[in-house]
Amino acid sequence: MKILVVGGGGREHALAWAFARRGHAVVAAPGNPGTARIGRNLAVKADDIAGQVRAARDERPDLVVVGPEAPLCAGLADALRAAGIPTFGPNRDGARLEGSKAWSKAFFARHGLPTARFFDATTMAEVDHALDALGAAVVKADGLAAGKGVVVARTRDEARAAAAGMIEGGAFGDAGRRVVIEERLPGREASILAISDGRSFVLLPAAEDHKAVFDGDRGPNTGGMGAVSPTPVVTPELVERARREVFEPVVRGLAAEGIDYRGVLYAGLMVAPDGTPNVLEFNCRFGDPEVEAIAVRWADDPAAWLAGAAAGRLPAGEPEFSPRAATCVVMAAEGYPGTPRGGDRIAGIAEAEALGDVVVFHAGTRAADGGLVTAGGRVLAVTALGDDAAAARARAYAAVGKISWPGAHYRTDIGGRIT
Ligand code: AMP
Ligand code: GLY
Repeated sequence: MKILVVGGGGREHALAWAFARRGHAVVAAPGNPGTARIGRNLAVKADDIAGQVRAARDERPDLVVVGPEAPLCAGLADALRAAGIPTFGPNRDGARLEGSKAWSKAFFARHGLPTARFFDATTMAEVDHALDALGAAVVKADGLAAGKGVVVARTRDEARAAAAGMIEGGAFGDAGRRVVIEERLPGREASILAISDGRSFVLLPAAEDHKAVFDGDRGPNTGGMGAVSPTPVVTPELVERARREVFEPVVRGLAAEGIDYRGVLYAGLMVAPDGTPNVLEFNCRFGDPEVEAIAVRWADDPAAWLAGAAAGRLPAGEPEFSPRAATCVVMAAEGYPGTPRGGDRIAGIAEAEALGDVVVFHAGTRAADGGLVTAGGRVLAVTALGDDAAAARARAYAAVGKISWPGAHYRTDIGGRIT
């Protein structure tokens, strides 16, 4: 197949790599220096809907895979399908699962999913009413906020201040004019991803993200500083409960509401002490860096699954994955997750990959003067396989040790602290 991958981060490089490895021709738009090594890049921004549709019409790919959420929420998949191009990624109606927390919470309630009690508010009077019922609570901007629109408040005053900042202060622009206020749930967090063709779904192997910027889960949240797959957090019992109590009702509910959902269903769960898989959120695309750790374990052809989903007919059976373990360590630029510094020269990628069982996915890099420089917050997603989690982790950190640039930083405890 010829596959057009929309996006230019580590997620898109990992998908492109997994397709190229099975012999597919890959074009990325806009891609990055990593995708340029395995295919061709087109200079079209991911959220330039008209430009992406033009590129797809010119290229005539067999499949378009849309990586990031913003173009999905803006209707890129609708536009591609209208042009007759097979597309993996939900239409705008399905992307509301991620694009509007108020819509998705109401959807969870309509379909009986386990989730936190919640209120929807656009005025401070409504906020006060919600806080009267909940006390200290979690405040969430309704719209897309790059993973930063959630405040887990310790006190009622803190919750009220967060809501005021969003509704009255414009903290997240229009995305925060409406907020969801929900009960704070106890438990352990886990993510489970599935691929849906609109009628059924298959689950992907468990992966665990590490969101905080510093070791020991300290510091502000980021897009994700590393991932492991598999993870002991996602037990077979949890997977079965999530299948029955979360994914089956979601896929049935989407179909019942006339939403033809062809793409990733990414459930962010808070697993209660009694094992209930409470749904915190859904995303409408692959997790980044979760998919880097999953992609290197994919043992059959991932394109067959995504093309099947795009066509509304998943292949029979389940996708196959290597039993080996993967660890992905994100190396970030000076300043991230605040304003990252760009233009620092990156060295050592070839040496890292020469270790074997290592793939260095590009996330925020740029070609310059025959070399590579930093050009984003998350710069590289250094991913390694090993026979078990400890071996994968040791190899990933050996690879990280070969790579350098001024100001590079990364967590040293992805998949457990190395002692
Ligand atoms: P979300 O984007 O909705 O997944 O929220 C971001 C993070 O906030 C989650 O990964 C959790 O750590 C935390 N969080 C969100 N909702 C809740 C909740 N109801 N109770 C406790 N923590 C939450
Ligand atoms: N790594 C978290 C996300 O992709 O949303």
